[in-house]
Amino acid sequence: MKSNIRIGALISGTGTNLKAILKACRQGKIDGRVVFIGSDNPEAAGLQMGRQAGIATFVVDYRSIERRYRSNPDHVEIPSDFQLDDICRKQNLFPEDADPGKVAIFLASRAIAEGQLLRKMQAYPFDLLVCAGFMRVLTPYFIDRVNTDPDHPRIMNIHPALLPAFPGTDGYADTFRYGSKIAGCTVHFIDYGEDTGPIIAQRAFPIRDEDTLDSVKMKGLALEWELFPECIQLFAQGRIRLERRSFETQEGDRFERKVVTILPTE
Ligand code: GAR
Repeated sequence: MKSNIRIGALISGTGTNLKAILKACRQGKIDGRVVFIGSDNPEAAGLQMGRQAGIATFVVDYRSIERRYRSNPDHVEIPSDFQLDDICRKQNLFPEDADPGKVAIFLASRAIAEGQLLRKMQAYPFDLLVCAGFMRVLTPYFIDRVNTDPDHPRIMNIHPALLPAFPGTDGYADTFRYGSKIAGCTVHFIDYGEDTGPIIAQRAFPIRDEDTLDSVKMKGLALEWELFPECIQLFAQGRIRLERRSFETQEGDRFERKVVTILPTE
């Protein structure tokens, strides 16, 4: 049973999810406190919210790191513990037939940014890292350094769609454009793929004829502000368990999957 957890937050933009988390901590709906707010984007509006609340904030400017690396790869320092082969083998962000050169450039430039992020995070020990509108995928380099115990993942993400449908950066718009009748949001642990990790909880709502993309986004965000704090509180209460389950198809093929179960309150 965990209590009063230390939460690290990563954001890229407005930070309305962060606002909901801070409010839930203040109201005692989360047994925990936010100990840092990190961002890939110096302009992220959510940083100001953190500063006003007296929370440590920092920025690692991913865009400028990427630009510098692409224009002059030899003059940008890659972290000494970064093993490109290992990261390429583990990652599930690119398909197997992706151009290996492009994949290597992407992963190496990300490792530089993630190395800086990890260094800044070191000053603020945390129990759970939440990606609250953090618009950068995390590579195995970063994930392995946070998830030191594979059975107890501790990076949570909120995604604006009912995964596994519509992964990526524009979940509500993708759902709406597709003509889906139901939209929603998902909180999941992060793994080596893009929005593929074990699902903790989801919430859905109907899309009606009179809905617009804006109304769908607003309805979805309102659900996110409830769901994310609830999942963080489940983590704080030690009620999230990750189980390996194996399934058998009618053809007799077996496959394994990590599935989240929520333990009852004591
Ligand atoms: C939210 O809708 C969140 O689900 C989404 O970005 C928005 C951030 O809003 N996240 C992703 O798309 C992650 N792939 P916020 O900055 O106001 O919390």
